[in-house]
Amino acid sequence: MGKDWWKESALNVPKIVVEPPGPKSKKMHDNTTKYFKGLSGQVKLFPVSFKEGHGITLTDVDNNKYLDFSSGIYVASLGHSHPKIAEAISYWAKTLLNCHDFTHPAKEKLVEKLADILPGNLNGMQFYSDGTSAVEAGIRAARAITGKHEMISAFRDFHGKSMGAVSLAQMARGDVLSYGPTRAPGFYMVPRPDPYRPIFKKEDGSIDTDAYIDFYKTFIHEGTAGNVAAFVLEPAQGWGGSIFPPDDFFPKLRKLCDEQGILLFDDEVLAGMGRTGEWMCLDHWDVVPDIITFGKSFGNGFPVTAMIVKEEYADALEKISASSSYGGNPMACAAALASIEVIEEEQLLENVRRVGAHFMKRMNKMKDEHPIVGDVKGKGFLLGMELVKDKATKEPFEEAGKLVYQKAFRKGLAWIPAGHILRMSPPLIMDEKYADLGLDIIEESIAEVEKEFGYK
Ligand SMILES: Cc1ncc(COP(=O)(O)O)c(C=O)c1O
Repeated sequence: MGKDWWKESALNVPKIVVEPPGPKSKKMHDNTTKYFKGLSGQVKLFPVSFKEGHGITLTDVDNNKYLDFSSGIYVASLGHSHPKIAEAISYWAKTLLNCHDFTHPAKEKLVEKLADILPGNLNGMQFYSDGTSAVEAGIRAARAITGKHEMISAFRDFHGKSMGAVSLAQMARGDVLSYGPTRAPGFYMVPRPDPYRPIFKKEDGSIDTDAYIDFYKTFIHEGTAGNVAAFVLEPAQGWGGSIFPPDDFFPKLRKLCDEQGILLFDDEVLAGMGRTGEWMCLDHWDVVPDIITFGKSFGNGFPVTAMIVKEEYADALEKISASSSYGGNPMACAAALASIEVIEEEQLLENVRRVGAHFMKRMNKMKDEHPIVGDVKGKGFLLGMELVKDKATKEPFEEAGKLVYQKAFRKGLAWIPAGHILRMSPPLIMDEKYADLGLDIIEESIAEVEKEFGYK
């Protein structure tokens, strides 16, 4: 098969045969949405209907072929329909669909492989079928480990949509939590460092990580009941717009957690499994968390997620009724195992680091040359470009974000909007040629929007 398995399907991409969303897309969308409600913002902004995905491409029902800068939604990270993963799923679909949480060969191999690639002694594992359930299990595990109940999370992080997970995040305003008492008792949020928009700054205007850590210390003392079980954070903010903290943040937070007897819960559902060029995003800073969650890329599209704790805390998993109906089923474990093997066999961590550096170089040039590109950010293939009305005031340019998203999609780029921050999460197999192709489309769209708004 070889690592070039996707290249043939990428020839001639993008190929737009009818302006999207085309007539078949529209009809299918209208038929479906008569009944199917609650669509995400990205679908509302560009209601296209897909029928196929191969490698780095997606094809809609009007036969338009798109270059994929989204990996579905950070999910099909090794490319759509990867033959090895399709084969693994299909073998178990024909052999053994479900045996609850009894052991089976795919699970045996997966846990051994995970114990091998994860740092430290992160080896008390349980599997789930969505990121939210893994996060929920992590909350329960943190409580069982510590005997404490409070949770601290960060502004603009996202952890899922169940009541526990929404209590960790700011989905609240005008959304789910508006309908009842706000977040669950004992859940608190604090700001986390965003180098482009620092709240705590040094005299020279640069971000002051120590001031954030000092604030957390004060907050734990003054704002909680002294029963904090865990700090729950994304290693880098995915939905928040590919925002990475300064390099000294997580090592300092790890130290604070140790001093305060608080667990560090690292939610790698979006950023983990190679997306940033390391197995775990926290590997960039040599920090080992106490609890970690994986999802999205973990099964390359098959719904499989994991919640993992350090060995010394593994007993806690006996106390939280950890298993579920689908968690760790044979197809799921086989998909996750095959995904890890593909990352190794195709040397994708190396690819992500090399092509990710290429992305950043090109994006920095765009920042220099375009008046509305205020900031560019990212590691590996978790990338963002922040659009502003004015580089001095940094006022977010929401309208431009929406228009650039739609224009680029119309030109054949399937990707993900996030207000004024353009987010890119291409499949990890992508090379420089296709990275440039996608960035060309984005740059052309930005230039058009600048013109429409009177920038020169
Ligand atoms: C960091 C993070 N945690 C948890 C979740 C929830 O995962 P799921 O949508 O699979 O429930 C997401 C989803 O985007 C996420 O980005």
